[in-house]
Amino acid sequence: MLRAAENLLLANRRRGFSRRLSQPFSYTCPSPTAYPFQWFWDSCFHAVALSRLAPAAAKREIWSLLSVQRPDGFLPHVIFWQGRLPSWGRLESNAAVSPHFTAQLQPPVLALAVSAIVRRDEDRGFLTAVFPRLVAYHRYLKRARDPERSGLLTIFQSRESGLDFSPQYDELWGERNGRPDFVAGSDAIFRSHQQAGWDPAKMRRAGLFVVKDVLFNAIYGEALRAMSRLALMLGRRGQARRFSTAAAKVTHALERRCWSAEDDMFYSLRVRGRDKRLLKRKTVASLMPLFLQDLPKPKVKALVERHVLNKDEFWTPFPVPSTAVDDPAFNPRPSRWIWRGPTWINTNWFLIKGLLAHGEKSVAAAIRERTLRLVRKHGFREYYHPFTGEGGGAKGFGWSALVVDLFDGKP
Ligand code: GLC
Repeated sequence: MLRAAENLLLANRRRGFSRRLSQPFSYTCPSPTAYPFQWFWDSCFHAVALSRLAPAAAKREIWSLLSVQRPDGFLPHVIFWQGRLPSWGRLESNAAVSPHFTAQLQPPVLALAVSAIVRRDEDRGFLTAVFPRLVAYHRYLKRARDPERSGLLTIFQSRESGLDFSPQYDELWGERNGRPDFVAGSDAIFRSHQQAGWDPAKMRRAGLFVVKDVLFNAIYGEALRAMSRLALMLGRRGQARRFSTAAAKVTHALERRCWSAEDDMFYSLRVRGRDKRLLKRKTVASLMPLFLQDLPKPKVKALVERHVLNKDEFWTPFPVPSTAVDDPAFNPRPSRWIWRGPTWINTNWFLIKGLLAHGEKSVAAAIRERTLRLVRKHGFREYYHPFTGEGGGAKGFGWSALVVDLFDGKP
């Protein structure tokens, strides 16, 4: 498994000189055919896997992301180092300012990736060099995406959540022939963002897609805790304290604003001026607060017992499906409308880590064992059928190599 993962990530490595950006590049693409560019959270996951396999390559992956960091701290969701700009690239970027990357974010996994690297490879020079960049990134997130100081970050498009067509957002696209109009709905939002010059304050005022996303914020909370640990390693006690206070605030805010006591479940929150509404669809995002180390025990128990282990929802033969089985949109088969049923390795990675941190050893072990089985039997695929385990979507998919971070000895 280790060798196969290393070979995969090496095969997906892209190196050269970018004329578009006038600088050399070295990154790992998610999949050579389906996803040839550099994606933000994919790169972070690749770096986690590489931290176990080839630490120098893991650090290069992080530097590649940081090399396009804007002076205000922003880091983009896709970087177009080479190749023709895809049509969606034009729609999703601020073409007049930076056509070489999109103008959106992706879930803030960066500090977790750096943390994985320095845990395995005590390279103080690397940490010292990247740390100020990480601080700038987290400052940007807070300033641009939580100016109201709610503790929770806002996303302005489903692409930012990493779960593109998750049913959570169905009601935001509008309808056509009784189905969510993904393409027209999403394009209209992108065009409005273009008009707003991707200015967060204007996008918020337009109100088309303003969501306090559960997955995005659960990752943000643990990323802040990782920042606190990294600050401590550098002897910055004051900063470490501030990051851990901010992390605790995220958990409290999720509990206060995104928890439905009636359903024992977290839901993303749509904000439209004063109107705030939970997007009540059961998806893997609803379970992601399990990744938060300080989620109180009763909520951990409720999520695990009522939802994770529920056969009508998430406990399929190959858990954890991206959408609950009893959600009307659930589709276990491959589809271009992704995140509506199949099981993905990255969300399992978060859940396994979280369950272990909460002492839920047997549930974590069961998910881990089946996750390893998926990859061993069907290879590194983009996603897997939650009942049969069959692989779907892209082949040679980078972040499925995260399985190497799930076992320490032999697989
Ligand atoms: C899809 C996924 C997104 C991922 C990208 C590249 O858009 O939804 O999460 O980053 O593909 O793998």
